[in-house]
Amino acid sequence: MSSSPSPTKDFRVAIVGGGMCGLACAVGLARKGIRADVFEAAPKFDEVGAGVGLGPNALRALKGLGVLDAILARSEDAQQTARQMLYLSGIGAHEEVYDYNNSSVFTAADNGIGIYRPVFLDAVLPLLPDSTATHFNKRCTSISTTASGSQCIRFADGTTHEADLVIGADGIKSTSRNAVVDADKKKLQFTNTVAYRGLVPMDTLRQEGVTTPLNTRLCSFIGIDKHLITFPIKSGKIVNIVAFATDNSVPVGSVEVTGPWVEAVPQQELLDRFDGWGHDVQAMLKHLKSPSKWSIHALTPLDTFVRGKIALVGDAAHAMTPHLGSGVGQGFEDVFLLCELLGHPSTNLSNLEAVLKAYDTIRQPRANMVLERSFRAGAIYESFGKPGYSTGNEMEGHLAGQWEPIWRHDLDGDVVEAVASLKEQGSFPAVTD
Ligand SMILES: Cc1cc2nc3c(=O)[nH]c(=O)nc-3n(C[C@H](O)[C@H](O)[C@H](O)COP(=O)(O)OP(=O)(O)OC[C@H]3O[C@@H](n4cnc5c(N)ncnc54)[C@H](O)[C@@H]3O)c2cc1C
Ligand SMILES: *[C@@H]1O[C@H](CO)[C@@H](O)[C@H](O)[C@H]1NC(C)=O
Ligand SMILES: *[C@@H]1O[C@H](CO)[C@@H](O)[C@H](O)[C@H]1NC(C)=O
Ligand SMILES: *[C@@H]1O[C@H](CO)[C@@H](O)[C@H](O)[C@H]1NC(C)=O
Repeated sequence: MSSSPSPTKDFRVAIVGGGMCGLACAVGLARKGIRADVFEAAPKFDEVGAGVGLGPNALRALKGLGVLDAILARSEDAQQTARQMLYLSGIGAHEEVYDYNNSSVFTAADNGIGIYRPVFLDAVLPLLPDSTATHFNKRCTSISTTASGSQCIRFADGTTHEADLVIGADGIKSTSRNAVVDADKKKLQFTNTVAYRGLVPMDTLRQEGVTTPLNTRLCSFIGIDKHLITFPIKSGKIVNIVAFATDNSVPVGSVEVTGPWVEAVPQQELLDRFDGWGHDVQAMLKHLKSPSKWSIHALTPLDTFVRGKIALVGDAAHAMTPHLGSGVGQGFEDVFLLCELLGHPSTNLSNLEAVLKAYDTIRQPRANMVLERSFRAGAIYESFGKPGYSTGNEMEGHLAGQWEPIWRHDLDGDVVEAVASLKEQGSFPAVTD
C-alpha cells in the first residue's frame, strides 16, 4: 500500500473491471484524492501471460498517472526500446521490405517498451492505496440511475453498489457499454483474423540459425492474408510472437465466433497455416509449443464513450485490432485525461456530467482514429505481394507516417483544451488555475 493524499472530493467513483486500464485508473484517481471502489469479475487480479507493446504516448500517460517509475524500475523487464518496426518478407529469405526507422528522425522521446503483462500487474498493484477498496467475484450485469441521481451497479451474485460516477473498464466484452450505447449503435464483430500467441527464448532461436535481429527490433513478417509480429521482452532474452491469419473469403462481420474467443490449439494448426513461409518464421513457430489462438474482435467506432455519469475507458470504449500495438495505450490516454479532469480543483459532484462530456469530446475522435488506423494497418501488412503492395517503395507509400500522430500526441494539451472548454461553457469558474 502506498501513501496518497487523503480523499478530498465530494463524489465517489466505482471502477468496473480491474484490467490494465482499470488498475491504472484506480492509482491515478487515488493520487488526485478521489475515493474509488474497483469491482473485478475474476477471483483475483490477473493478466494473460503474454507481452504487450507500449508506445511513447502510453508511457507519457502512465507517467502522468504516477505509475511509470514503478514499471521502469523493473529495468530487466521494461527496458526502453525503439518502437520503429522493421518490415520483412514472410516468405523466401526475409528480405527487408521497409524500415520504419527510415521514415522520420526518431529520438529517445519516441521510445516505448515491450513488457510481460504480469510484470505490469506486479508493478502497479503495490501502488493501490488503502482508500481504494477492491472487490472480487463481482461481475457487473447492468448499471442504472437512481431517483437521487446516483448510479446503481448490479452484479451477477445479486448484490448492488451505488456510486456517483461509474468508470467502465471491463474490456472488450464490456457490459457497462450497454448502459452508454444503444444496442443498434454498437457492433462488436469478428475481424476474420485469428492470432496465435507465444513466447520463445532468443537463445533457442539463435541455435536454430535465426539471423533477424528479433532481440533488438520490432519486426513484422508480412505476406498475403498473413503476418507475424515480434518484439523483444526481458531485455531481448525473450521474443514475444503474434502470428496472424485472416480469412478474406467472407466479409467482415458475417462470421460469428460461437466458441471461446481464446483457446489452446495444437501446434500443427499453426505450422500448417504458415507452411511455405521462410526459415526464421518456421524456426519461431517450431518453438511455439503450446500456442493460444485468439479470435480477434473489434468494435465499429462508438459515437460516444459517455452517458450521464458513466464513462467508458480502454477496450470497453474502443476495442481495436492489435496491428499498431496501440490498444492499451489509447486506454491509458483515456484514463490519464479522465483522472486529470476529475481531479481538477473545480470538479465536484455538481459538474460531473459536464466533465465527462469534455472527456468524451477529446477522447472519442482520437481513440477511434487509432482504431481505424489499426484496422487499415493490418490490411496493408496482409496485402504485401499484391499489385500496388509489392515493392519497398510501394509499402513505404502505404505505411510511412502511420505512427507519428499516435506517438507524438500532446496529452497535456488535451487537458488544457478540455479545461478551457469547461470554463468557456461555465461549468468551471473562469478564474482558476
Ligand atoms: C493478440 C493481442 C495482442 C495485443 N497486443 C497489444 C499490444 O502489443 N499493445 C497494446 O497496446 N495492446 C495490445 N492488445 C490490446 C490490449 O490487450 C487491450 O487493449 C487491453 O488489454 C485493454 O485493457 P482493458 O483494461 O481495457 O481491458 P482488459 O485488459 O480486458 O481488462 C478488463 C477487466 O475487466 C474484467 N471484467 C470483464 N467483464 C467484467 C464485468 N462484467 N464486471 C466486472 N469486471 C469485468 C476482466 O476480468 C478484466 O480484468 C492486444 C490484444 C490482443 C488480443
Ligand atoms: C534504411 O536505412 C538503413 C541505414 O540508414 C539502410 O541500410 C536501409 O537500406 C534503409 N532501408 C530502406 C528500406 O530504405
Ligand atoms: C534508427 O536510425 C538511426 C539513425 O540512422 C540510428 O541511430 C538508430 O539506431 C536506428 N534505430 C533503430 C531501431 O534501428
Ligand atoms: C462545485 O464546483 C463549482 C464549479 O467549480 C462551484 O461553482 C461550486 O461552488 C462547487 N460546489 C461545491 C458544493 O463545492
